[in-house]
Amino acid sequence: MNSPAENSPDSSVPAVALRGVVKAFGTGDARTVALKGTDFTASQGELHLVVGPSGCGKTTLLSVAAGTLDWESGTVDVFGTRLNGMPRSRVTAFRRKNVGFIFQQFNLIPTLDLVENVSVPLLLNDVRRREAEEKSAALLQQLGLGGKERKRPTQLSGGQQQRVAIARALIHEPRLLIADEPTSALDRETGHQIMDILAQAARAPGRSVIIVTHDPRTYRYADRLTDMEDGGIAGVYHGQALRDFVSIHH
Ligand SMILES: Nc1ncnc2c1ncn2[C@@H]1O[C@H](COP(=O)(O)OP(=O)(O)OP(=O)(O)O)[C@@H](O)[C@H]1O
Ligand SMILES: [Mg+2]
Repeated sequence: MNSPAENSPDSSVPAVALRGVVKAFGTGDARTVALKGTDFTASQGELHLVVGPSGCGKTTLLSVAAGTLDWESGTVDVFGTRLNGMPRSRVTAFRRKNVGFIFQQFNLIPTLDLVENVSVPLLLNDVRRREAEEKSAALLQQLGLGGKERKRPTQLSGGQQQRVAIARALIHEPRLLIADEPTSALDRETGHQIMDILAQAARAPGRSVIIVTHDPRTYRYADRLTDMEDGGIAGVYHGQALRDFVSIHH
């Protein structure tokens, strides 16, 4: 498959561009508009934080950008590939190849050991099991989990499980990494380790990391920060404006 995401060398193409995106849940009295014509841009080579009060639409924004949630109107482009009107099966294939996820609750598979958990995205991309497991074991080692490869997730601490989740999100070297509250369950030290790993991934050429966070400790890792409010964008900060935002909210 020759999608633009695989061979576009143009680093000025946004990693993610949402334009006028509307997304609502429920109908009638139960209808909640989670995104109210939202514009959002994440650039390649940047770690982009998304902040804002509970219920303002952060997870919804990430899910639309990742192609895991349909929206009502507006356009969504990921590395220059328009997701509007793309058949579901192609969106899924695109996502498997180009997007990695880290969820707040880790979402590790309890019946699989660590190597098997981390291998999943490679197996979904048709990498042979032996090769997938070798690569996964090497990455686990790199993340300080050497010697635990054949343990189950429940045998690990929260911070260790979070590192397994990060290994799984990074293993297929996705161009876009999306993380929802990746440090909220972690102590200070582990939180900083995780942010270092994510910042390194973000700044590799042609890649991008978008993180939803409530954790002010993560702000100093941001290249850019989008502040959301009630289904819209309250502000986008970078450079000096970002440093001012961080010093006010830290
Ligand atoms: N599956 C759903 N069904 C109905 N309403 C939903 C659903 N998912 C989200 N919502 C609503 O959409 C709005 C935005 O939710 P979203 O999960 O995006 O918020 P959030 O900013 O991620 O909040 P938090 O910081 O608490 O995770 C909220 O009002 C929420 O109640
Ligand atoms: Mg959320």
